[in-house]
Amino acid sequence: MRRADDRHLASDDEAWWRNAVFYQVYVRSFADANGDGVGDLEGVRSRLGYLELLGVDALWLTPFFRSPMVDHGYDVSDPRDVDPLFGDLDTFDRLLADAHRHGLRVTIDLVPNHTSDRHEWFQAAVAAAPGSPERARYLFRDGSGFGGLRPPNNWTSTFGGPAWTRLPPSTNDAGQWYLHLFAPEQPDLNWENPEVAADLERTLRFWLDRGVDGFRIDVAHGMAKPAGLPDMPHPTGACPGLLDADDPRFDAEGVHDIHRMIRKVLNEYPARVAVGEIWVSDDAAFARYVRPDELHLGLNFRLLEADFDADSVRAAIEHSVMAVQGSPAPATWTIASHDAVRPVTRYGGGEVGLARARAMALVQLALPGPVYLYNGDELGLPNVELPDWALQDPVWKRSGRTERGRDGCRVPLPWEGGTSPYGFSATPGTWLPMPGDWAGRTVEAQLEDPSSMLSLYRQALELRQAHTAFFTGTELEWYGAPPGCLAFRRKGGGLICALNASDTPVSLPAGQVLLASGPLSPTGDALSPDTAVWLGAQ
Ligand code: GLC
Repeated sequence: MRRADDRHLASDDEAWWRNAVFYQVYVRSFADANGDGVGDLEGVRSRLGYLELLGVDALWLTPFFRSPMVDHGYDVSDPRDVDPLFGDLDTFDRLLADAHRHGLRVTIDLVPNHTSDRHEWFQAAVAAAPGSPERARYLFRDGSGFGGLRPPNNWTSTFGGPAWTRLPPSTNDAGQWYLHLFAPEQPDLNWENPEVAADLERTLRFWLDRGVDGFRIDVAHGMAKPAGLPDMPHPTGACPGLLDADDPRFDAEGVHDIHRMIRKVLNEYPARVAVGEIWVSDDAAFARYVRPDELHLGLNFRLLEADFDADSVRAAIEHSVMAVQGSPAPATWTIASHDAVRPVTRYGGGEVGLARARAMALVQLALPGPVYLYNGDELGLPNVELPDWALQDPVWKRSGRTERGRDGCRVPLPWEGGTSPYGFSATPGTWLPMPGDWAGRTVEAQLEDPSSMLSLYRQALELRQAHTAFFTGTELEWYGAPPGCLAFRRKGGGLICALNASDTPVSLPAGQVLLASGPLSPTGDALSPDTAVWLGAQ
């Protein structure tokens, strides 16, 4: 199906996503148009000009579907409607049409591993008897031990605590347990039940017919569960992150049939993309998700998990490449998301953290293949230390208040002005409080400052789009580099990227400097510590 507004998009290419820069919009925190302190779809629409100016190719919108918001939208009670907090279907349609007019593709989140406990299916399941068709859409089991008092197995929730919750005994139920790999308000679906796949297909077509350009699939290594639900050999606490290879909760063989089903539907619609969130650590296991009849792309977190250290960064890049070798998919690159500590803070905080985040921005944008940016990283926002009372992530409570959770990277974006809420909203009562010292970090303050993080991102994105050094070259070639440094070249186009993660200046490789993340030495021939540079042919 072709859309009338396709002509406004920069490239009509079927595989537009192969080299695209995606920008993750955490909708709650991007821009609030109706003044309730929470970002919304109309807010995103009002800032499309900014996104075009920034120079990204596509958006990934985090869930805006009907939800009680226990996990801020990742607990979906109706996947085919917009939550009133964010707008309605008309707002969504307007946003999509306008984004296309701005040359931006729009991908949306899809949450197939679980629903909200307020989803009508789960409500019906709780009201029905054990063994009923209603219960068969989820993973209900009798408990173990005397009186079924203990959970059916030892699985833990990714958010901490057991992955099972027991229903209170009732007239038709002695108290069965249901599985939730995340919060108890996010019951896992039973993917052996054909109704579950049929419903996902409806959801896919619902949004594809509206014209979305693709999906980011949440927990794409989840969904299927191994037969008999065997115990975890090493039960863990709250731990989002790369998985142990022997963790039975994720990466079960049956998941690949689900991806084949999704791909079949997407193949009916030209130029759409499915990218999966895949936290498996084994390269060979990862590769299986991007076989020709499965996902187009796999979001991989190796670079995000790497320290600011040349060997770790190089290993992350090499593993990312190895994990897609032999598949039609390019490797994807990201150093941030709504689930991770912001790069500036992760790399050391303060001026050093900022310099390193600038350097890593150039490293990731030099790599061939799609890059995923997270909103606010182009402003160099640090993670925010929020007071206990402000914390909302379910991880905080589920971990017995030992893990602060992910709110620190989800604080609303500062747009303009000198005081909170910096143009994000008309109310100072934003859903997470904004720091008092962000006046220098607003979009307004950074736009005209050539040395700002925003200017660096804009220049980098423009070069990536327009400079011949980027035009070809999907393969990497490594150069010898001094200890603590790395350098690679994109074969073909010729772009060279060098990173100095050591604590002494090193000499620059030969070539014409296209962009540097920080000042070079006064003589212009040395790369300072915590700095990266792009070089083209001389
Ligand atoms: C994914 C999301 C995360 C969410 C979880 C459960 O990992 O990125 O934010 O909490 O899935 O849906």
